Amino acid sequence: MRLSLRLAATLSCSVLAFAALQTVPAQAQTVSAPERVIVNLTETPSTSLAFNWRAEAGAGDGFIEYAILTPGPAYPAQAVRLPAQRTSAAFTTRDEQNVAADYYSVRLTGLTPDTQYVYRVGKEGAWSPWRQVKTAAAEVRPFTFLYMGDVQNDIRSMGGLAVRRALRQTPDAAFMLFAGDLINRADNDAEWGEWFDMDAHRLAETPSLMTPGNHEYMKPQGSTPQMLAPQWRLQFTLPENGPSDMLTETVYRVDYQGVRIISLDADMIDEDPQAAQDQFAWLERQLADNPSRWTVVFLHYPLYSTARGRSGEELQTALQPVFDRYHVDLVLAGHDHTYGRGRPHEQGPVYMVSNVGPKQYPLGDLNWTDRKASGVQVFQQVEVAGDRLTVRAFTMDGALYDAFQLDKPGAGPARLTDLKPATPELILRREDQ
Ligand SMILES: [Fe+2]
Repeated sequence: MRLSLRLAATLSCSVLAFAALQTVPAQAQTVSAPERVIVNLTETPSTSLAFNWRAEAGAGDGFIEYAILTPGPAYPAQAVRLPAQRTSAAFTTRDEQNVAADYYSVRLTGLTPDTQYVYRVGKEGAWSPWRQVKTAAAEVRPFTFLYMGDVQNDIRSMGGLAVRRALRQTPDAAFMLFAGDLINRADNDAEWGEWFDMDAHRLAETPSLMTPGNHEYMKPQGSTPQMLAPQWRLQFTLPENGPSDMLTETVYRVDYQGVRIISLDADMIDEDPQAAQDQFAWLERQLADNPSRWTVVFLHYPLYSTARGRSGEELQTALQPVFDRYHVDLVLAGHDHTYGRGRPHEQGPVYMVSNVGPKQYPLGDLNWTDRKASGVQVFQQVEVAGDRLTVRAFTMDGALYDAFQLDKPGAGPARLTDLKPATPELILRREDQ
């Protein structure tokens, strides 16, 4: 969370009435419990985890207390307390609310791998509940993560239902990966509140990774460059190992138990030629020097679109050769509010487009998918176990809709086995929204 720099950069080009890093006011007398508590993976997920939350403006210093989970209620007495980094921010949002809050960020380091921790955040008189979170193993070990496309609309209610279904069906998910458009309007703070309300405990207990979509960016008239929602870096602490300050916490990599996961900032590729070049050069370095057997790239815009009237040709031209050259295994996207999965080139990655939210688009004329759908809300389990990576896509009613596996016993591209069920394709799009 490199806030001062980024928020200052945002301010300098803002035509909105938002954002001021304020002098921290005197401590309030009564403070309510923290909200929007979230845990993010760091670039070293076996020994480090990152936490964020916010409290009312003037809440003052904030802390995290953490301990290894104990068989009984001994953990509070064993907890270590650390201060959090605090940023006071105020901005006027699209919904014309004046939002002022204290945002907190802390990165725990030196943790023990593969260990269940408990933690709480806040301060005396205003603690969150104790919550549990597990570090990654230090070595390659099987795990499953959840991949979800755009939540975006009706977030608290219909979006949240689908995300909770995914979590209910994947109780041991190591982490959640959100492929952008978490919300609909970047400057609508109420929507961010809805996003955290989808499942407050699970967002605080299951680490997340997210990449921004176009709806996390604001493009007010006359504003160049576009602006990332200020909440992004205030609310999340994502790895700061990307190519530039402008792309910090939107472009990054994490190595998790044998998988290199790379977030690309698709909207900045689209909007800013320099940011695009920076990402391409950085990406090549991450792929050329890659300690993990498996490589998963996620970005909001698909290289191969599924929605009618859309094409990912420019992204294909820029990225597909490098994905192919370095044997990227899986490319996960959102944006098209439909479902599609295919491998357009035999030696290349499997490309997926998915959509967990209620907004639905019609499908285009697709010639690259092995499985597709419209009018459904879908989530994916990605299971990685040694030389085999298995993806299962479920519709929101819990039914298996698509599946495939990749086997990679040696160097070179993975071998694809299609495991999709013999059920009809679901083309159920409602009217355009
Ligand atoms: Fe989008």
